[in-house]
Amino acid sequence: MSERLRIALTKGRLQDKSLELFESMGLDCSPVRNPGRRLIHAIPNYPLDAVLAKASDVITYVEHGACDLGVVGKDTILEKGGAFYEVLDLDFGCCRFALAVKKGSDFYGTYKTRRIASKYPNVTRAFFEGKGMDVDIIKIEGSVELAPILDLADGIVDIVETGATLKENGLEPIEDVAQVSARLIVNTASMKLYKSEITDFLFRVERKLGEQA
Ligand code: PRP
Repeated sequence: MSERLRIALTKGRLQDKSLELFESMGLDCSPVRNPGRRLIHAIPNYPLDAVLAKASDVITYVEHGACDLGVVGKDTILEKGGAFYEVLDLDFGCCRFALAVKKGSDFYGTYKTRRIASKYPNVTRAFFEGKGMDVDIIKIEGSVELAPILDLADGIVDIVETGATLKENGLEPIEDVAQVSARLIVNTASMKLYKSEITDFLFRVERKLGEQA
């Protein structure tokens, strides 16, 4: 009998796209769409149980084996890291990390240490270390676009999707930092223990992505 796999899905922007993908593969995701008060949702026509979680918790669950699989953004993977297999680029939730500054400001035209605000300090540190540039990083939890407007920072490193938030706040992207999209991740022990179940699931996902390409 095949083992039921457990998958953690990132709540919010990636949630709907994940369910759309699974439904297009023939999985009945109605229990996830109508959750009531339940936190674990059994897919009735495939041996898979789904939980919804914040992005960072998806990685924690998969890393510790509480879930065998996860769908999470590359942004969170780059920021948090961890020991798991990143097996597939799901090709949705596509956006980028960019360095943005006040429109018209000359970010590189000074020798003084620049101050960068970001929700992603590790991504920011790695980016500027790669340039051999010393910067002060300020961790902000939300609406990071405010930091340059309030003169708290010379620039920000943040997710840019349409660019509308930057534009509406008088900021402009000056450099790409990394491309971001949703990834399928797998717990390292599950990959060995439930090889045939995981292979079957990955095969179905890959086949669907191939059809959509
Ligand atoms: C992200 C990001 C920007 C915005 C960019 O925030 O931090 O603020 O989206 O999108 P745009 O380029 O299409 O304008 P999100 O809405 O995810 O909220 P958060 O601040 O809670 O992360």
